[in-house]
Amino acid sequence: MDEVRGRVLVVDDDRVNRMTLAHVLEQQGHAVALATNGLEALQRLSQEAFDAVLLDILMPQMDGYEVLARMKADPALRHIPVIVITALDEVESAVRCIEMGAEDHLPKPFKPVLLKARLEASLRRKKLRDLEQAYLQQEKLATLGKLSAGVAHELGNPAAAAQRGAEQLQEALRLHLAAYRELCAVPLTSEQVVTLKHLATELEACRERVGALDPVERGDREAELERWLEEGGLEQAWEQAPVLVSMGYGPEELAPLARLFPEHFPALLTWLTSGFTAFNVLEEIGEGTRRIHEIVRALKAYTYMDQAPLQNVNVHEGLENTLVMLRARLKQGVAVRREYAPDLPAIEAYGSELNQVWTNLIDNALHAMQGRGELTLTTRREGEVVVVEITDTGPGIPPEILPRIFDPFFTTKAPGEGTGLGLSISHSIVTKRHRGAITVESKPGRTTFRVRLPLRTERSPDEAAE
Ligand SMILES: Nc1ncnc2c1ncn2[C@@H]1O[C@H](COP(=O)(O)OP(=O)(O)O)[C@@H](O)[C@H]1O
Ligand SMILES: [Mg+2]
Repeated sequence: MDEVRGRVLVVDDDRVNRMTLAHVLEQQGHAVALATNGLEALQRLSQEAFDAVLLDILMPQMDGYEVLARMKADPALRHIPVIVITALDEVESAVRCIEMGAEDHLPKPFKPVLLKARLEASLRRKKLRDLEQAYLQQEKLATLGKLSAGVAHELGNPAAAAQRGAEQLQEALRLHLAAYRELCAVPLTSEQVVTLKHLATELEACRERVGALDPVERGDREAELERWLEEGGLEQAWEQAPVLVSMGYGPEELAPLARLFPEHFPALLTWLTSGFTAFNVLEEIGEGTRRIHEIVRALKAYTYMDQAPLQNVNVHEGLENTLVMLRARLKQGVAVRREYAPDLPAIEAYGSELNQVWTNLIDNALHAMQGRGELTLTTRREGEVVVVEITDTGPGIPPEILPRIFDPFFTTKAPGEGTGLGLSISHSIVTKRHRGAITVESKPGRTTFRVRLPLRTERSPDEAAE
């Protein structure tokens, strides 16, 4: 096994012990710093980075227990492994220290071989943990990068529609008011006033009638009305006919109005159609901004921006928010089937990390299906466990690579398309962070990833570091 080296802080009030330990450690290739009591140790720890601490228990001023307790309470220090030095008759104190979070203990008088073995094991574990944290961070960024492209696309359409709508609304209102001024420029007869009032009321009400026509009938009516308007000398016949048909007007309804407003019939039509257009455009703007709001809400929920890391998580919401994030890719031709257990309980979990798992699994499924197929999300409760299954109808995973898919950096995708980290990170989020399990079953046309999560998760020692 390759050897690991680190910066080690030796804390002992006994000078001979300190010197012996330092000597042995330096011979084994470690960098050593010394402290004579607990207070001094904490001070050094706050100033420099260490990979391990060798800690005596009985010391004046501040003993080893206190140092250990303070280190474990400090997010910046709790990852540093502590090995306590105990005399042979101090088995109970060793046990107590391990319970308090010490990594290991070393009996006094110590043997250099044992010191080497225990220290290197601790250093190796710490290195692994550090690496894992770095991977987690890296993959989180990669996932976010992948998502943000999709989200930007999703936001782009409704945002552009809302902006275009705002311009159209301004134009419609300008036309509406201009027509209104024209209509009111001459004294109106009482019959004209009554009719205008009636039409104003109609303007909003007639929106209800829209959409009832089938396309062929609509086409016929538009053509008929356009012809009629053109015969009456109206220049914007082609523009206004479709709007008027949507409002439910045909020659029959319009002829009396043309007679009642002989001079201002074009203005009257503009006043009507622009008012109607304003309402419709406003609806589109509302639709677009609602959509933007929905995406932003999902995005916020997806990342659990303003919540504690360990929380009560509604698994269905997590899956749904993830689907919103990936909607652009689903739209290409993937049908989503939901088989959600109606009474699925919330689970205690790291919400945003679970979302990362769903994202990785669904991302893989979509990639496998090349944009066409069926994605099935299944949830159920089995005793004290929630089971989530993500099934795709892609080509499946060849049996010869199946044992390797959870390995870090294993990928069959082209460079730039996959990091090979998705499943390995998902595996560690599920098994290490949540003490759950993740398994896979695959044959051509049907691949299922099954995630099992306990209803309760033990608070991980890493949590406060986030
Ligand atoms: N649903 C799936 N269908 C087919 N192959 C899959 C599926 N999920 C994962 N794989 C395989 O497992 C490999 C590792 O996946 P992952 O760890 O997410 O890395 P990446 O997606 O970056 O390749 C993929 O490259 C692919 O070969
Ligand atoms: Mg992947």
